[in-house]
This record gives sequence, structure tokens and C-alpha cells, in this order.
Amino acid sequence: HGTSRVNEKGHLEIGGVDVVELAETYGTPLYIYDVALIRARARAFQEAFRRHGVRAQVAYASKAFSSIAMVQLAAEEGLSLDVVSGGELHTALVAGFPPERIHFHGNNKSREELAMALESGIGCIVVDNFYELELIEELAEASGRTVPILLRVTPGVEAHTHDYILTGQEDSKFGFDLHNGQADQAFRRVMSAKAFRLLGVHCHIGSQIFETAGFVLATQKVFAKLAEWNREHRFVPEVVNLGGGFGIRYTEEDDPIPVAMYVDCIVEEAKKQAREYGLSLPEIWIEPGRSLVGDAGTTIYTIGSRKDVPNVRTYVAVDGGMSDNIRPALYGAKYEAMLANRMWGERTEVVSIAGKCCESGDMLIWDLALPEAKPGDYLAVFCTGAYGYSMANNYNRLPRPAVVFVENGDAQLVVKRETYDDLIQYDLPWKTKVKK
Ligand code: LLP
Repeated sequence: HGTSRVNEKGHLEIGGVDVVELAETYGTPLYIYDVALIRARARAFQEAFRRHGVRAQVAYASKAFSSIAMVQLAAEEGLSLDVVSGGELHTALVAGFPPERIHFHGNNKSREELAMALESGIGCIVVDNFYELELIEELAEASGRTVPILLRVTPGVEAHTHDYILTGQEDSKFGFDLHNGQADQAFRRVMSAKAFRLLGVHCHIGSQIFETAGFVLATQKVFAKLAEWNREHRFVPEVVNLGGGFGIRYTEEDDPIPVAMYVDCIVEEAKKQAREYGLSLPEIWIEPGRSLVGDAGTTIYTIGSRKDVPNVRTYVAVDGGMSDNIRPALYGAKYEAMLANRMWGERTEVVSIAGKCCESGDMLIWDLALPEAKPGDYLAVFCTGAYGYSMANNYNRLPRPAVVFVENGDAQLVVKRETYDDLIQYDLPWKTKVKK
């Protein structure tokens, strides 16, 4: 998919670049991003809104993969940006992302983080709770600013991959509950203070979702509340943000719909609701992460040791694992893979791909059919672009891998590989105790 193909040497090629050459140049494990595919996904979302002729913002949820180059690519594609921490905000600002297109999320933003956001001239703060309202009001008063905000509401719709559940009483750490008066209380609080400019509401129903029903239901619930606030308080919403969560295909088990179809469903329902309640259609915002970058990322590993457990299975180990992709260990996430240097090889054996961390749970893929893998072969694991690098860690003091962007035959290093010295750069020696 994307610009991936097999070249005349039988090597995997992405963005016109031989992946084996990349592995040899930059070392492994290595994350490779297909820039053209990220652009295509960004354009598909935006084009879908354009076809409906509605005002919209597509914000890239940078928690999926935040780096300076990635943020700059998002800016180049005209995306907005969702950040969830001072660290992601700092990355965006240093990358030169226009602050007015940044949205700040999070259920426990600190005073320092909020101050930093206000200072930067951020486009919108998605307010999660009453404590945050208080903090923002204090900061706004001290600086004489009015802060554009969305209220994050919890609509009682929870989507899980292939289905969604309706929970009358939502049990979630995020947002103001729509059902128990919290959202109304927050609304009144916001309207009675000068510090805020309330743009509208936000909700997010989950991640890796394949169906549209949950989004439709959430749209209905949000509009019902906005209509009530409009009737009772003449509030005119400018923005409705329906979050992210659009699913992608990791393996054949996943059957996502094209991104445009999610947009179609959301926009059609929003138009219908606005019409029914006599509201003019607010701007529709969404904030996809995984569906913008997930399938554009591939991780390349070098194969090393092998262990046969007779009549049970064969373990084939790679030079990374839960340190660069924690999703299999954390969620039981599944991936497809192939030998990048022998793409034409016949898949003659079934092996399980082990990481190199000192834990039995560090398994990347169970029961994968591969050509017979030898030490020094390169394994390409597909669809690692979202929540791979961003959740990477230094467990077992493994240095985090490098990240390379490829496009039109060019490769560019965008995150350097960590060194052993990087790993100890914040360590301080224990003071020597001299025994008398
Ligand atoms: N907006 C909000 C408020 C979110 O909480 C999230 C994801 C997104 C947008 C983007 O969702 P996406 O389009 O990427 O599904 N680490 C997990 C996923 C956690 C998602 C957290 N929130 C994983 O690796 O599957």
C-alpha cells in the first residue's frame, strides 16, 4: 500500500527508497515513514469536508507521533494540531506550527502548561474539568486575556473497535458528563466569567473504531445539548469537535472504511441535527492521529537469535521489541511483517517474533508465516506509524531508534538514534562515602 513496492532486488522499497539500504545507512531498529501516504490521508480528510462545503478543521492528534519534522509536515498539509502536554506543545512551537491552529487537550493540564499555552497564543483549549476552568480563569485575569475554549463533554457513547456501547452513566476520567448536570454546570460557569470565549463542545468516543454508528450517536447527543443551551441561553455554537479514533488495517482481521466515509457520516448527521434544531451549522472539527500516520510507518529490525521449542514453536528474535513498539505487550495488538530483503521469498515456516527485552511478554508477533529467517535478515513490521515511536521507551536501557522520512526517492533523517551516552546524560553519580 502507499508507495511501498518490491524492487528488482526483491527488497522492500518505500517512497522510492530501498529499505535495505536505509537499514544499512541508519541502523536498526529503524522507523520509516512514507510521507506521500501521510499527505494522501490528510488530503482525503480535508477533501471530504470540502465536498460537503462545510467549514472544518482536521487536527492531527500529535500523540500518535510527535516530532519536529512531523509537526512541520502537518503544517505543510494545512492540518491543525492537537497537543496534550507541555512537551507536545513545545515541539509544535519550536517546529514553527501556527499557534492559532493548535488545540490543547488533557485531563490534568498543569498551571505551567496552561500558562505556556496562553503565552503562545494557542487557538483553543479543550477544557476537561472544573479545576482547569479555575486555573484558566486565574491565568486569564492576570494577563487580561480572553481564552478560546471548547468544553469536553462525555456523551455516554463508548466505541470499541467493532461496536459501541451506550453507557447512561459514563465512567470516564475525561470531560464533563452530559447526563448528570456537570456539562450544564460547566456551561453556566463559563458563561458567567469574562475569561472565556466558549467556541463549542468536544467529544471523543474511542480509538481504532471501524463503525460510524458511534460517531452518529455522539453527534446527536452533542447537538441535543447545544440546542438546549441555544434555547435557554441563546448560546450560538461556533465549533463542534467530534474527536478522532478512525480505525486502520493492521492485519487482515481489520476492515476499516475509507476515511471520507467517516467524514460523510459525521457531516450528514451534523447537518441534519442543526436543521432539526434550527441552529446554523457550526464548524466541524475532527482530530485523527492513527488514521493519518499509522499505516505510513514501517519498522525495520535485524533478525538475530532463534530458539526452537520442539513440537511447540520457534522463536525468532529481533533487535528491538516492546521498547520501540509496546502495543503488542500492552494491548495484544497484532501486526503483519515480511523479510524486507527477501520480499519474493516463499513463506515456508511459521515463527513467533520475539523482542530483545528481558520479559517473556516481549513478543511482537505470534505465529507469523515467513521465509526461513536467518541472522542478518531484515524484518519489516508494517503499520507502526502511530503510537510506536511516541510510546517508545528505554526499558533495558535500549536506545530509542532513529526515524527516517522517505518521499520521491529521497530519505531524510528526522529523529536521530539515541546513543548510550544519551541514556546516561541525566544520571548523576552517587556521592562517595569514605569509611573512617
Ligand atoms: N482526540 C482525543 C481526545 C484522544 O484521546 C485521542 C486518542 C485522539 C484524538 C486520537 O485518536 P486516534 O485517531 O489516534 O485513534 N495508545 C493507544 C491509543 C490511545 C489513544 C488515545 N487517545 C494505541 O496505541 O492504540
